[in-house]
Amino acid sequence: MALSLLEMVKLLVFKLVTGFFYMLYKIFAPSRSHLIGKKVPPVSDPLLLMSAKQLATKIRKKEVTSVEVVQAYIDRIQEVNPLLNAIVKDRFDAALQEAALVDKLVEEETDGEEVLEDRLPLLGVPLSVKESYAVQGMPYTGGLVHRKDVMATVDSPPVAWLKRAGAIPIGVTNTPELCMWGESHNHLYGITNNPYDLCRTAGGSSGGEGSILGGAGSVIGIGSDIAGSIRMPCFFNGIFGHKTTPGVVTSEHQYPPTTGRHEEYVSNGPMCRYAEDLVPVLRIMSGPNAHMLNLDEEVDLKTLRYFTIPNDSGAPLVYPVSQELIDLQKRVVERLEEDLGVKVEEVNFPELRHSVQMWNTYMGLPDKDGKQPEPFNVILGEPGRPVRPMWEFVKWLFGRSTHTFASIGLALQEMTCGKPSPFIIEQKEKLQKDMEELLGTDGVFLYPTHPRAAPITHHPLFRPLDFAYTGVINVLGLPVTQCPLGLNDQGLPIGVQVGAGKLQDRLPLAVALYLEKAFGGWKEPEAA
Ligand SMILES: *[C@@H]1O[C@H](CO)[C@@H](O)[C@H](O)[C@H]1NC(C)=O
Repeated sequence: MALSLLEMVKLLVFKLVTGFFYMLYKIFAPSRSHLIGKKVPPVSDPLLLMSAKQLATKIRKKEVTSVEVVQAYIDRIQEVNPLLNAIVKDRFDAALQEAALVDKLVEEETDGEEVLEDRLPLLGVPLSVKESYAVQGMPYTGGLVHRKDVMATVDSPPVAWLKRAGAIPIGVTNTPELCMWGESHNHLYGITNNPYDLCRTAGGSSGGEGSILGGAGSVIGIGSDIAGSIRMPCFFNGIFGHKTTPGVVTSEHQYPPTTGRHEEYVSNGPMCRYAEDLVPVLRIMSGPNAHMLNLDEEVDLKTLRYFTIPNDSGAPLVYPVSQELIDLQKRVVERLEEDLGVKVEEVNFPELRHSVQMWNTYMGLPDKDGKQPEPFNVILGEPGRPVRPMWEFVKWLFGRSTHTFASIGLALQEMTCGKPSPFIIEQKEKLQKDMEELLGTDGVFLYPTHPRAAPITHHPLFRPLDFAYTGVINVLGLPVTQCPLGLNDQGLPIGVQVGAGKLQDRLPLAVALYLEKAFGGWKEPEAA
C-alpha cells in the first residue's frame, strides 16, 4: 500500500529521532558485549522438567515430596538468578516450611488421593509471582524507587486462590516501572536478562516471570497484560502465556491500580512452560468467575474455523514482521491443515495499521462516570509530587533521575497526546465488529506476537511501537494465548499468538496444547 506524503514525513522523523538516540546509546551505554550469546546452564534435575500438574500428582502419590520439589527450584534459582536478575525477592525459608506442611498433610490424608486432587490441585508446587501483585509480606513497589519499603499486607485474590489450591509462592519477579514498558528495567532492582542470550531482553512488563520460567527456575507463574505484558515476555523467553478475556480475573490488589477504562483492557493470566498447566492455573486464578469461561467444555479442534492474519497491513511507524516469523506462521497453517484436515483462511484487516493509535486513544478515554485516567507522570511521582517530564529528562542526562529513560519518555509522550480522534475510534469500532463477526464462538486466529525475536536489551527504546501486535488485542478485549514454537537459528525462542472471540478462551488454550505437541513447546536454552 502506498504511503501518503504525511506518513512518509512522519516515518522519516521517527527514524531520524530513534536513529539519533541509538547513536547516543552506542556511545554512552555501558558495554554488555561480554554477555553476547551466553545462556543459562543446562537443567540437570529431572524434577525441573515436569509440569505443575505432573508434580502435584507425584506429590499426592508420595512419589516425591514437596520439600524435594521446592528445594530443586531453590537450587535452580540460585544457579540462574545471578545471571538473569529475574526474582527480585525470594521467600525460600517460608516456602520450605510450607512444603514440609504439605508433606505432613499428604502423609496424614486418609480420604485418598482424589480428595486431595479435587481440593488442592496444585498441592506443593512452587509458584513465581510478578512483583506488582500483592503477596503478603513481600515487596510491592511496581519498580518505583520511592516505594522501596512498601510491603504487601494482603494477598491479591488470584495469589490467595492459588495458595488455597496448594501452590507455594517462591518469590516475586521484576517489572519495569509501573509495568509500563516492554523491558523489565528499573532503578530499584536493575534489568532482567534473557536466559537464551543474556545480553538480550526478557521483555516486559512480566519480564521477570518470563525470564525465570524460560530459564527453568519456575514452572508456573502469573502476569498481567495491558499492551502485551504477558505475551511479549512469553514470546521472548519461549513459554506459554494467556491473556484472559478482560473482567474474568480480578486486578484487585495490584500496583498500580487501574484508572479510566484500563480495567476493560487489562488482563491477568497464567505464564508457564507446559501447556497443560494453562487451564488449571487460569481456572484457579478466575476464582468465582471461572464459570464464565466454560473451561471444562470439550473442544474439538477439527470443527473450529481457522484464520491467519499475516501482518498489520503495513503501519508506517511499526516494524514489519521478520521473514522468519512470516515463514513460521505459514508452517503453523500447513501443520493445522495437514494434521486436522481444516482449512485456514487468510484474512487482512486494513484497520490494524492504526493499532498504536487505537491503543493510545482507548487508554486515554474517561471511565463511565467521565473520570479521566490518572496521568502517567502523576503515578510515577511520589504521592502529591508528579514527575515533571522535561526536568526529569535533564536530571536523567546527568545520571540523577531515579526513573528510567523509558518512563521519562512515556511521560514526555503523554504531554503530546491530543484529543481522541473520531477517525481512530471509527476504525477501532469497525475492526471490533468485523473481528467479532468473523470469529463468532468457534473461530480462532493466528497473529504475530511481535515483529522479531528477543532484541538486545534497551533496543526496544529505539523501536517503541512494536507492541502494536499485542496492544491492539487489549483494546479489542479478546482472549489470546502466546504459544512458543521452538528456537530460531540463533537459538532464540519464536512463537505466535492464537486468539478467539470474547470469553472463548478455551479455544486458543486447546490450540496451545496441540501446538505444543506439533512443535515441541518450551525448549531448554541449549548448553553454551
Ligand atoms: C501482509 O501479508 C500479505 C499476505 O502475505 C502480503 O500480500 C502483504 O504485502 C503484507 N503486507 C505487509 C505490509 O507486510
